Amino acid sequence: MRILLLGAGGQVGFELMRALGPLGELRATTRDGLLPGGAPCLRADLADSDATLIALLDHDAPDLIVNAAAYTAVDRAEDEAALAQRVNGAAVAALGRWAAPRGVPVIHYSTDYVFDGHGTRPWREDDATAPLGVYGASKLAGEQALRASGAAHLILRTAWVYAARGHNFLRTMLRLAAERDVLRVVDDQIGAPTPARLIANATAAIIARLAPRGAFAGDAPWGLYHLSAGGHTSWHGFARAILPAARRAGLIDRVPEVQAIAGADYPARARRPAWSVLDCARVQDTFALRLPSWDTALDAVIGELATMR
Ligand SMILES: NC(=O)c1ccc[n+]([C@@H]2O[C@H](COP(=O)([O-])OP(=O)(O)OC[C@H]3O[C@@H](n4cnc5c(N)ncnc54)[C@H](OP(=O)(O)O)[C@@H]3O)[C@@H](O)[C@H]2O)c1
Repeated sequence: MRILLLGAGGQVGFELMRALGPLGELRATTRDGLLPGGAPCLRADLADSDATLIALLDHDAPDLIVNAAAYTAVDRAEDEAALAQRVNGAAVAALGRWAAPRGVPVIHYSTDYVFDGHGTRPWREDDATAPLGVYGASKLAGEQALRASGAAHLILRTAWVYAARGHNFLRTMLRLAAERDVLRVVDDQIGAPTPARLIANATAAIIARLAPRGAFAGDAPWGLYHLSAGGHTSWHGFARAILPAARRAGLIDRVPEVQAIAGADYPARARRPAWSVLDCARVQDTFALRLPSWDTALDAVIGELATMR
């Protein structure tokens, strides 16, 4: 199976490079044609024209497309709506248009930001969407376009992604812990911090299940699934779990005080959903997955960081 991975330099893309490798002939793209370690790969900028994207797909002729590329700058998106819509919406539509007539499945990632956050129970796949900002709206447009294309697809909505590499909350907390005595962290947004590696490993397990001999079954359960770690916490709760674990692992020298603040006291350009917890029963039942709780998953990432020192 020839797998084309778009966005191999991102948090999830980096982990997919490792997880998808054993499943077939993996070809990777980044925006600048270089992998994180500097090795060359294919170049694909989703802001380019559809024709450029289609030319890449024609040339590479994949059996499966995995799209981990996205415009993820939530605040900047408010001022770059056209670019966010292009990368997260129109480019995904182009992927679907190429894939549908060729019978090539597309695996694509989306976000809890398609919801408005006014919930009290974990969001299910068929709950009404109502994005609060440009980023969420652009990701919703991508979901809708892929569905409308008629391509066989999996849309995996995830949330609160972090990893040992890249720009994320965990790494910000470790940096600030070395600089400050007191950290003020939002306590009224609730979600499930989810390692990129968990998402990549689950994706690989799903592909292996759908295509056990390298070809996808005609009646595969394509569609929309929620995929995150289990349980939930606030950003404040996440910080309070990260810092002592990082101290025990020798990643920081001391644990600063962590004060809880309201989101309203941490002004940002884009509004964020208050309740982001995803109900992952469907993905677990359909693909026989067992997703760890967010705190167990955190231990693995802290352990990974400790081995990287
Ligand atoms: N991060 C989260 O908390 C979160 C939460 C829910 C869902 N998701 C979704 O999960 C997926 C993976 O996210 P992630 O956390 O891995 O994000 P990430 O670390 O920000 O990675 C996104 C990747 O997309 C690339 N990219 C941006 N614009 C591009 C363009 N015009 N053409 C090609 N590539 C482009 C980036 O490249 P550069 O490095 O060159 O910019 C980066 O490698 C995305 O679909 C995202 O919407 C993320």
